Amino acid sequence: MKFQGKKILIGISGSIAAYKIILLVRALVKEGAEVKIVMTKAAADFVSPLTLSTLSKNQVVTELFSDAAWSNHVMMGRWADVMLVAPLSCNTLAKMASGLCDNMLMATYLSATCPVCVAPAMDEDMWHHPTTKQNLNKLESFGNAIIPVGKGELASGLHGEGRMAEPEQIMEFIYNRYFGEKDLAGKKVLITAGPTYESIDPVRFIGNHSSGKMGIAIADEMSRRGAEVTLVLGPSSHKPREASVKVLAVRSAEEMYQACVGRFEGVDIAVMSAAVADYTPEEVSEEKIKKKEGNLTLTLKKTKDILKSLGGLKKPSQVLVGFALETTNERAYAQEKLVSKNCDLIVLNSLNDSGAGFGHDTNKITIFAKNGAEWTYEQKSKQQVAVDIVDRIVNIQ
Ligand code: CTP
Repeated sequence: MKFQGKKILIGISGSIAAYKIILLVRALVKEGAEVKIVMTKAAADFVSPLTLSTLSKNQVVTELFSDAAWSNHVMMGRWADVMLVAPLSCNTLAKMASGLCDNMLMATYLSATCPVCVAPAMDEDMWHHPTTKQNLNKLESFGNAIIPVGKGELASGLHGEGRMAEPEQIMEFIYNRYFGEKDLAGKKVLITAGPTYESIDPVRFIGNHSSGKMGIAIADEMSRRGAEVTLVLGPSSHKPREASVKVLAVRSAEEMYQACVGRFEGVDIAVMSAAVADYTPEEVSEEKIKKKEGNLTLTLKKTKDILKSLGGLKKPSQVLVGFALETTNERAYAQEKLVSKNCDLIVLNSLNDSGAGFGHDTNKITIFAKNGAEWTYEQKSKQQVAVDIVDRIVNIQ
């Protein structure tokens, strides 16, 4: 029984997809899970608390106070191994994003100390509304996981994106993310992320727009799957969510190189996702450069190519993954980098795809493998893209 002894807390909000939760509860209990349920009043219009309490063998909670007794929302979140909010309606999503606490489900969510995942359910136009995207991004930034929606017939009769994932898909997601086999257990991983800053003088530098979010998402995903992760991170305002990721903060391409090259021998997998400067000022002025008449010319020298250096050191047992960010001839350039830098995989993100690359919360990638295989993916959140990349890495291990 896959879920034997696992404690799952389900928060149900008001959506027609709530009927699917009956099947989900039944399947979870069959697989050995203990299930507790908290639901909004709107959810109780779609599905009966009596049905759910019968199937879960636990009392279903809808109110903060009932029969003059206070329901202990704090203990529910502490009891659970995972809290799932499904279906996640637009209204509950907005409340979760802004921390509004006007019902039992919200009080439970806000006090939950366990990991939280959500399965959104909405009509296509609501799903594509910018507020929905913004709110989901906020939830991801809190560390909540989003179970991808499906495409198909919607309650409105329209066809499109926004259908809640099916109960089997929800179970698979929860199992893989929280209880699954740690497929990277025992593996040591080195990851670079973020930009580098190349100093011109004490106050100025040459940098780029990389946020570091993609590499950080990969570090989190690999750590969740059991790897021992060292993240060499250029200047970035973001940081990993997984406390076990060891972060080495660096600033320049040279510092990043020094942090990586000595560590590479001891790792099983290296993923170089940083946007490393290719050039750095030949001389760094000790004093602030003063403005003068006419132009200023800076002479730049080449930095060391970290990925290429690791490619030269790579043993057959090691897996090396590079990134390519291109604006023209994307495939050809990416494939060229795969060979010239001796990588096993190269992840291409094209600046021609809207929603991909620097600064975005989403990315659209194609992965090329040394053996000629390639995989193209839809635009997804960087967290979901990280899962796709790590799945590919695991499969060549
Ligand atoms: N890279 C690196 N060290 C550098 C430059 C790049 O490790 N000094 C790595 C990046 O982390 C990425 C890959 O090389 O994994 C490709 O980076 P990219 O900037 O796309 O390519 P470059 O080799 O720098 O070539 P170009 O800028 O001409 O496209």
